[in-house]
Amino acid sequence: MTYKEQLDYSRIPQHIAIIMDGNGRWAKNKGKRRGEGHIAGASALHDTMMNASKLGVKYVTVYAFSTENWTRPDEEVNGLMALLFEKLDLGIFMDNDIRFCVIGDTDRLPEKVRERMNKCIDLSANNKRGTLTVALSYSSKWEITRAAKCIALKVQQGELDVNAITDQTIDEHLCTSFMPDPDLLIRTGGETRMSNYLLWQCAYTELYFCDTYWPDFDEEALCKAIYTFQQRERRFGKTSEQVAEENDNK
Ligand code: IPE
Ligand code: IPE
Ligand code: MG
Repeated sequence: MTYKEQLDYSRIPQHIAIIMDGNGRWAKNKGKRRGEGHIAGASALHDTMMNASKLGVKYVTVYAFSTENWTRPDEEVNGLMALLFEKLDLGIFMDNDIRFCVIGDTDRLPEKVRERMNKCIDLSANNKRGTLTVALSYSSKWEITRAAKCIALKVQQGELDVNAITDQTIDEHLCTSFMPDPDLLIRTGGETRMSNYLLWQCAYTELYFCDTYWPDFDEEALCKAIYTFQQRERRFGKTSEQVAEENDNK
């Protein structure tokens, strides 16, 4: 039986975050240039967004370019920016009723990418079927530092009382304030690290690591990740018995 056939459709994760890793190694294994790995990766993103949406996943948040990725060779960075410009297709979001969002330090992106990106963000804002958020020039440390500065400024200006700051205040000042925390985080490409991605938001997220390089991540690979997620017990600090009792009372 396939993983797709074994899924419990009443328990599909609402929000899946993905670290799309392994494009470079995928290309190298095939004797291709790294850039070709990124092109294949863009196609895997398109397919994953469609598959996740068909399965009923409401939010997909993908790591496409980290703050640290700016230190890659110019040729690779420029190639990635050109690819981003080419693939930002408003039609795909409108035809599929998908809202497009971006999180990250977008001021660092080339202007023509920013313009096309903002157009997709604005025009897809009312789409309802699902939300695709792309983390671009993003890192958690950048995001949390920015939130801390913003909160400090409000305290300094007398708009906010220090004692009124809660974890919800932090949530509200992060770029992800409009979405629930991820239920499941998938990292492809074999590395088992977070690489500065959604560190605050993944406090209670189920983590799933697979060896598949991102361009090879297909529908069955997605279903396997979701199936694995469905086998886990999310306790949020409680005991197994308490969780069972809560489920009985539902
Ligand atoms: C992920 O693939 C995409 C980006 C970071 C832009 P990599 O480019 O990191 O691929 P590997 O890890 O070198 O194989
Ligand atoms: C993480 O991948 C960032 C993205 C997938 C965009 P990296 O390939 O940059 O991560 P590290 O440096 O190997 O941890
Ligand atoms: Mg990598």
